[in-house]
Amino acid sequence: MDIKDKVIAVTGAGAGIGRSIALELAKKGAELALIDINPPALEETANLCRRGNNGTRSYCCDVSKEPLVEETFNKIVADFGHLNGLINNAGIVRDGLLVKVKDGAVVGKQSMANWQSVIDVNLTGVFLCGREAAAKMISDGSHGVIINISSISRAGNFGQSNYSAAKAGVAAMSVTWAKELARHNIRVAAIAPGFVATPMVMAMKPEARTRITEPTPLKRLGMPEEIAMTVSFIFENDFFTGRVIEVDGGLRL
Ligand code: NAI
Repeated sequence: MDIKDKVIAVTGAGAGIGRSIALELAKKGAELALIDINPPALEETANLCRRGNNGTRSYCCDVSKEPLVEETFNKIVADFGHLNGLINNAGIVRDGLLVKVKDGAVVGKQSMANWQSVIDVNLTGVFLCGREAAAKMISDGSHGVIINISSISRAGNFGQSNYSAAKAGVAAMSVTWAKELARHNIRVAAIAPGFVATPMVMAMKPEARTRITEPTPLKRLGMPEEIAMTVSFIFENDFFTGRVIEVDGGLRL
């Protein structure tokens, strides 16, 4: 599908990978509905996108809240007339060991709050936005593409029970939706990035970053733009659906 003039929603567009995806799609002439919970960051991305392309609007919304997501997608279709694409990118981390042990004694447990917040945003948020986008595309008879951002951690990563479980769920949901929605001319795929140089990763101590890059064959972090160009590939290739693309410099967890 040609990206030019298509109406595409991007969640978590205020920073990092989401901002790069928004800029890539704006450069290719998409009309963008940018979604985030951080209004100043969202406005900054929207202004950057508007430099070369006026068809950008922003929507402040927490993707984990059902009524807000429904309201936001209703607004998007009221504003643009229809919807052709969704990039489900918003995500958070709340890392911690399942059980913390010191000198053989259990000294802590992963909190229910940390578990639930990551499941709410990274799994339920993807479900809610994907469901609303698919319903709109089917009602309008629009051909569409849904791209979900999973992670290399979907294979299981130390200290990330919540995040790994959510990202494995995102990969499985993408395949499920591809099977269910193909008959409605909607393609669905996922991207599983390795470690990418966003503010979240750059805030880690240099030695922690080295522990990530050392076992990576390409010996570096990915760039947000390298994930954004994968979004373009999926959007533009009409024979691509139901698969997860790994963009991780060759790293295996
Ligand atoms: P980031 O933290 O730089 O940006 C995330 C954006 O999502 C922020 O603008 C934030 O305000 C927004 N957001 C957070 N919770 C939200 C909510 N409830 N509703 C709406 N917006 C919300 O994150 P980054 O690194 O750009 O990650 C983007 C996606 O890529 C996430 O799904 C993340 O899990 C995934 N990913 C990131 C990797 C990395 O190394 N940075 C590696 C693999 C996957």
